[in-house]
Amino acid sequence: MALKYHNFFSLLLLLVNLSFHGNIAAQNAKLAASFIFGDSLVDAGNNNYLSTFSKADVPPNGIDFKASGGNPTGRFTNGRTISDIVGEELGQPSYAVPYLAPNTTGKTILNGVNYASGGGGILNATGSLFVNRLGMDIQINYFNITRKQIDKLLGKSEARDYIMKKSLFSIIVGSNDFLNNYLLPFVSSGVRVSQNPDAFVDDMINHFRSNYTDFTNWKLGSL
Ligand SMILES: *[C@@H]1O[C@H](CO)[C@@H](O)[C@H](O)[C@H]1NC(C)=O
Ligand SMILES: *[C@@H]1O[C@H](CO)[C@@H](O)[C@H](O)[C@H]1NC(C)=O
Ligand SMILES: *[C@@H]1O[C@H](CO)[C@@H](O)[C@H](O)[C@H]1NC(C)=O
Ligand SMILES: *[C@@H]1O[C@H](CO)[C@@H](O)[C@H](O)[C@H]1NC(C)=O
Repeated sequence: MALKYHNFFSLLLLLVNLSFHGNIAAQNAKLAASFIFGDSLVDAGNNNYLSTFSKADVPPNGIDFKASGGNPTGRFTNGRTISDIVGEELGQPSYAVPYLAPNTTGKTILNGVNYASGGGGILNATGSLFVNRLGMDIQINYFNITRKQIDKLLGKSEARDYIMKKSLFSIIVGSNDFLNNYLLPFVSSGVRVSQNPDAFVDDMINHFRSNYTDFTNWKLGSL
């Protein structure tokens, strides 16, 4: 059982877009944009704009984050998230901005957008104890909106190239579906209490698979 969980997490972490590396080697180009989905491990401040118990806008969060001069940014860490670090190492001009920030408009989105939300998971019910958080369904729907904005900014054909060849997608999600859903019978519905772990994991995978299919189509601009 423990091994199964382990494999599942690895599966999700591997969804980082591998095609990007091929392209970077071929063109010696720098990463243009980073689109980040997931939970508190990579939230860059979205929860600051939600009424939620899952917030990180107080010290010591941010004390080592240079870009904010040591002030909290909503990241659930003293410094950069793994997605900030990967983007920076690959030459991304500036950190992906939180989708919910009011100043995430116009050309700012061309450096990438961060949809991650502390407490969020694959399943809708995950994190409900925090009252508000963005689950994967909503994050992917938001990406649909960003995708259309990029079409407008760059034109359809360049937008497609930008997304498919110059951008990195990462999805870091899954742990809250256990910690703040399945393993919290008090919060989870009666179904979860009686569901065995295998059935629960199948549920997560099926849900994720159907969401990921929409996501891939939208990346291509085909919906
Ligand atoms: C958006 O506003 C936040 C908070 O005021 C600020 O820290 C950030 O630098 C702004 N981002 C951009 C891209 O202007
Ligand atoms: C989950 O929530 C999203 C957004 O609120 C909604 O569109 C979707 O139908 C919900 N899915 C399920 C299985 O309840
Ligand atoms: C994606 O966004 C467009 C509007 O920009 C909307 O018409 C379409 O229904 C959205 N797709 C889904 C599945 O939400
Ligand atoms: C995600 O999957 C759920 C369950 O299959 C579905 O209700 C929802 O509409 C999907 N959302 C997206 C954005 O694909």
